[in-house]
Amino acid sequence: MMEKIVIEGGKRLKGEMTVHGAKNSALPILAATVLTTKRTVIHNCPRLTDIDAAINILRHLGCVVDVDGDCVTVDASDINCWDIPDTLMREMRSSVVFLGAVLARTGKASFSTPGGCEIGLRPIDLHLFAMSRLGAKINEEYGRLECECPEGLVGDKIALSFPSVGATENAMLAAVTAKGTTSIINCAREPEISDLADFLNGCGAKISGAGEGVIVIEGVKSLGGTEHTVISDRIAATTYMAAAAVTQGQIKINNIIPAHLGPVIPMFEEAGCDINVCGHSLSISAPPRLKRIKTIRTMPYPGFPTDAQAPIMAMITVADGTSMIIENIFESRYKHVNELVRLGAKIKVESKVAVVEGVHCLYGAPVIAGDLRGGAALVVAGLAAKGTTEIEGVNHIDRGHADFEKNLTLMGAIIRREKE
Ligand code: UD1
Repeated sequence: MMEKIVIEGGKRLKGEMTVHGAKNSALPILAATVLTTKRTVIHNCPRLTDIDAAINILRHLGCVVDVDGDCVTVDASDINCWDIPDTLMREMRSSVVFLGAVLARTGKASFSTPGGCEIGLRPIDLHLFAMSRLGAKINEEYGRLECECPEGLVGDKIALSFPSVGATENAMLAAVTAKGTTSIINCAREPEISDLADFLNGCGAKISGAGEGVIVIEGVKSLGGTEHTVISDRIAATTYMAAAAVTQGQIKINNIIPAHLGPVIPMFEEAGCDINVCGHSLSISAPPRLKRIKTIRTMPYPGFPTDAQAPIMAMITVADGTSMIIENIFESRYKHVNELVRLGAKIKVESKVAVVEGVHCLYGAPVIAGDLRGGAALVVAGLAAKGTTEIEGVNHIDRGHADFEKNLTLMGAIIRREKE
């Protein structure tokens, strides 16, 4: 059934909330459970449709998965399959992160090739390069990708031409049980990489250097079970911060990891917000009118995250002055711009660059979410807008934001979900 989110904007956010676990950490960790024959328990696993998609893949592969709130238990002792059907692959583009783990566990992997997605072409050449460096034979035919390593994978040097998050994760997953030592050079340094390494090391892997420029993995024969708590979602936290900022709000967000918000906090400060970090909580208090942010450049971590680009753009549409955004990570990641313009924003896009001229106020209108973060940006804008904003394409938002309306309602927003 089609659903939409309806927001009566202009309400000041005030209150306290707890942010959920990181989707982008939980997904590769769920894939990693395939590597062990023992039981793994994952806490703080967010309840999202992307996580459901990953669980469906695990069950298809033969795992017994038990979900109890935000705790997921996986028993992968009886993996009996190495192919992931097209329907499951299509549910979530990042299912390619299962490649390294399935290949390492079963010696084979068969996937449909992921096409493009809402934010542009998403090639997997770096993933395949990493697999082939470890000795996998790869065949691409009829839209399917067949990988094989009958003799097992063998550690080697993998020098990535770009620090891709997914390719780094796949390389790690393939390498932990490979023969010998693997080094991943120019690897991604995102906090989600370190979380995956912590999970795998908890299972007995020997990974060092996660979070730095080179990851070194000494292959082990097999992995055991573990219990792990997923890190908190820095992008969801940033989205709530943006929501507070556009509504002249004052909120406290619990369960954050301050260091992971290091790249975004300066932007909120430049916009005139007061930020206070105390332990694992962050308080943000917004001024009556936000100031412009001169330049935002999306970069691999520890740079400003591309996933926060859309919600921050929504925020600066109502700032005093003109801001500039340069999107360096993905091509077509400005699909939310036209919808923000419908709400009265003044934005011009020229290839990687968006120029946002702050307006005094946005006006509610019907809009359509075309992707996850762009959809969250429309919620942020709707909270700021005068009148009613109706957002279609809620399925995109549900991929990454658990209890979104509930949390916002508890902090004073007027927001509800309607079935059409
Ligand atoms: C992950 C995140 C996503 C985030 C992105 C960048 C997950 C599930 N998703 O996506 O939310 O926006 O990191 O922080 O964790 N590229 C290639 N070849 C490849 C792989 C990537 O050219 O084989 C390019 C991509 O097209 C893109 C760039 O590298 O331009 C970054 O992509 P990557 O870091 O791989 O992002 P994902 O892992 O897909």
